[in-house]
Amino acid sequence: MIKVAPSILAADPINLERDVRRAVEAGCDWLHIDVMDAHFVPNLAYNPDIVRRLKETFDIHLDVHLMMDRPETLTESFISAGADTLTIHAEADTDAGALLDRIRKAGILAGLSIKPGTPAEAVKPYFDQADLILAMTVEPGFGGQKLDRSVPGKIREIRDAGFSGLIEADGGINETNLQELIDSGLDVAVMGTALFHTADMADMIRRIHRMKMKANRTET
Ligand code: DX5
Ligand code: ZN
Repeated sequence: MIKVAPSILAADPINLERDVRRAVEAGCDWLHIDVMDAHFVPNLAYNPDIVRRLKETFDIHLDVHLMMDRPETLTESFISAGADTLTIHAEADTDAGALLDRIRKAGILAGLSIKPGTPAEAVKPYFDQADLILAMTVEPGFGGQKLDRSVPGKIREIRDAGFSGLIEADGGINETNLQELIDSGLDVAVMGTALFHTADMADMIRRIHRMKMKANRTET
């Protein structure tokens, strides 16, 4: 079953607790927390204290996405704050392999992300060190953008190249473009705008939970 991970970048920052409670009560599987350093991406978002307070307040998997040039500078802080998944970018100025090993050693999911313009080749050397690959479906930095249609093909390429971990996609995802991502091998859908701007989040999450990879339909 596809996991739904609301991105709190699309929540109302003045009413974050209200919006997160709404998402958790609507049955989401993970909570996606974007961390931005105003250098790797032209925006600034969230810090370890937010993750700590979310961990203290809600019982939900915290999926932390580090859009940072130097993710190693805050890895320890996010691990101790309670991140359950910690994802770094392959394009960051860091030793991705060493950092993935460090994250995994802390007993949490180690994720590696690539932007839409970065080829799948960039993650293949890390297949054994990453528990999750995050294929960005928009240029990272802002919510509410249009999904890049080249990314489902990249997800299929990563799957066909033998990656057996979780594949996540993030940015511009809604119910109309999600099926193609699922058919490519997606496990986790990060959705900000589409989820937080819908009247009935629980209905949408229920519908998404029923979505299956088309190829599997013949088996059931
Ligand atoms: C963009 C972030 C996404 C974003 C979600 O850099 O990584 O998580 O908040 O995007 P939308 O709102 O398009 O679902
Ligand atoms: Zn994200």
